Parts: sequence; C-alpha cells; structure tokens
Amino acid sequence: MSAEPNLWELSDLSTPWCVHVVATLRVADHLAAGKTRIDELAAASGAHAGSLHRVLRHLVSKGVFEEPSPGQFALNEVARGLQDSPLRLGLDLDSFGGRMAHAWSTLLSAVRTGAPAYHEAFGRPFWEDLQAHPEIGASFDALMGPGGHGTPDPDVLITGDWASVRTVVDVGGGTGSLLAEILRARPGVRGTLVDLPPTVARSAEVFSAAGVVDRVTTSAQSFFDPLPPGADLYLLKSVLADWPDREAGVILRRCADAARPAGRVLVLSGVSPDEPGAPSPALLMMVLVGGTERSLSEFRELARAAGLDVHAARRQASGRFVVECRRA
Ligand SMILES: C[S@@+](CC[C@H](N)C(=O)[O-])C[C@H]1O[C@@H](n2cnc3c(N)ncnc32)[C@H](O)[C@@H]1O
Repeated sequence: MSAEPNLWELSDLSTPWCVHVVATLRVADHLAAGKTRIDELAAASGAHAGSLHRVLRHLVSKGVFEEPSPGQFALNEVARGLQDSPLRLGLDLDSFGGRMAHAWSTLLSAVRTGAPAYHEAFGRPFWEDLQAHPEIGASFDALMGPGGHGTPDPDVLITGDWASVRTVVDVGGGTGSLLAEILRARPGVRGTLVDLPPTVARSAEVFSAAGVVDRVTTSAQSFFDPLPPGADLYLLKSVLADWPDREAGVILRRCADAARPAGRVLVLSGVSPDEPGAPSPALLMMVLVGGTERSLSEFRELARAAGLDVHAARRQASGRFVVECRRA
C-alpha cells in the first residue's frame, strides 16, 4: 500500500523554486563546461556563492546534481535534463517561465472569483502582458514553437484525404510551425496564418526555413474578428483551451462563418474523449488565462451553439485527440 501523502511535503515550494533558479542561472551548462567548484559556479552564474551552495545542496538531497566532495558539484542524469532547451524555455524565471511560475501566486483570487487574476501579478491580463513585453512574448512563442513543443505532426486530417483540401487557415497558429509543416508535406496546398501582429511578425523565418513562403499568406488580426473566408480547412490547435466558453464560442463562430459550405474546422488539443480516466483539465490555463480543456460532450454543445456539428473525433497514432466539425 502506498504511503499517505504528507501535507507538508505536498505544500513545500522550496524544491520547485530551486529547480527554476538553477535553470535560470544555467548551472547545468556551467558544470558541463567544467566549472565544478561552488565559487566558479557562482562566478559563472552571477550568483552569491553561499546562497547558491545552499540551493544546490537542497537539490542534491532531492536527487538533482551530486556533491562528490564538499563545495564540488557534478551533473547526474536528472541534472543533465536541465540542459534540455524546451525544459529551460519553460523554467527560465527571466523569460516566459517566470510568468508561469509567478502566476501561481494568483490562484487564490482565481478560485475565489472564477476569473483569472494574472493581472494582479503582472499589471495586465495575460495576452496584453505578452504584447506589452515583446521579449516575454517572443519566449512564449518560442515555447509554443518547435524549440519548445517540438515539430508538429502535419498529418492533421481524421476523415477524407488531402485531395479535397487546397487551402488551410491556421487560426491562432502561433509563429506558423504547424502550417509550415503542412505546406512542406503537401506541395499543392496554400495556407494562411492568423495570429496577433507580434507573433505573425515572428513567422517569417519559420516559413522561409520550410521553403514555403510562396504558398503562405499571413493575417495579423484578432480571431475575434472575421477570419479570411472560403478556405477548405480551418485549424484551431491549442487555442480553445485558452478561453472560457463565451470567447471559445465566438472563435468557433468565426470559423463557422468563414468556412465554405463544405469547409471543415479541425480542433487539435483542448478536447478530450468522453471516457473514464480522461486527464483532469490542466489548472495552468485557469491561472494564466481563465481557459479550460473540455470533454467531447462539452465541446459538442459549444460547437453546436456556434453553428458547427461534430462530424468525427479520433485519437491519432501520435496520441493527439482531434475533433472535426462541419457547418450545421
Ligand atoms: C497556446 S498558443 C497556440 C499556438 C499554436 N496554435 C500552437 O499550437 O503552437 C495560442 C495562440 O493564440 C494566439 N492568440 C491569442 N489571442 C489571440 C487573438 N485575439 N487573436 C488571434 N490570435 C490570438 C496567441 O498569440 C498564440 O499564438
């Protein structure tokens, strides 16, 4: 029988903060570069040696790093993970990782009011904060892009084949990594990226690296405004879970209005099958943006109110659950 959870241990924040701090200070990289003594590590990290020493010794006690002799540190398997760049993008307190970490201090307000309280920590709601701080916005886009979440699988369709798809609009498509992969895999397809202006501005190098610039257009706009009309396929990947029902419904309505009579809307991520044991909705969305993941039944209702019917829903080989909607 497993031991009962200990509430002091469950509520102890010291380890998560220590991990964030060493990731931000790039301690694993400095160790890999041969700086193993605490004074060398502190100098390379721009940190206070005594304080860094205490943090590292705490982490050693938790199985991250080793201290083969007093004041001398070494990487172990777990600590080597801190050199992984997606992980670092998510943990770095000086960039978007800091937004995710500090936002948890607003959880109590979010629970009391039912609305995100991100502005209490950062002065503005989440999306406005990213726009007001371009370097934070860029690190969020990087985390969403291939450097963070990996290269997206372009095999998005769950019914039919690509013969009927000539045009794709990726709504809230970030810096375009999914669209770039789709266009690269399907030379006969043209695409449009819709996202906010600073993010769209960061897409040029993604499309250029994929060699698809001549088949892509961008629309720097809000997805709460009318979308480029008449495409065969509208994609919403990791978008709807960022929003409460009212806003998610408006985004779906914009897609329904823009899709041709036979146009399709594909929702990738944010909806889970109606089956026991489905993962509980991630709290981070609630804290950052007041959004939520939805069960297929909840989504079906939301889509219907926006003029869309769920035509098919399937888990792909990659594990991704995709829902295809058509105009009602
Ligand atoms: C979680 S990210 C997902 C990005 C991309 N679809 C992916 O899967 O990597 C959500 C995207 O919605 C965009 N976004 C947020 N508010 C928006 C708005 N009002 N209009 C258009 N895009 C918006 C963000 O800039 C961001 O790129």
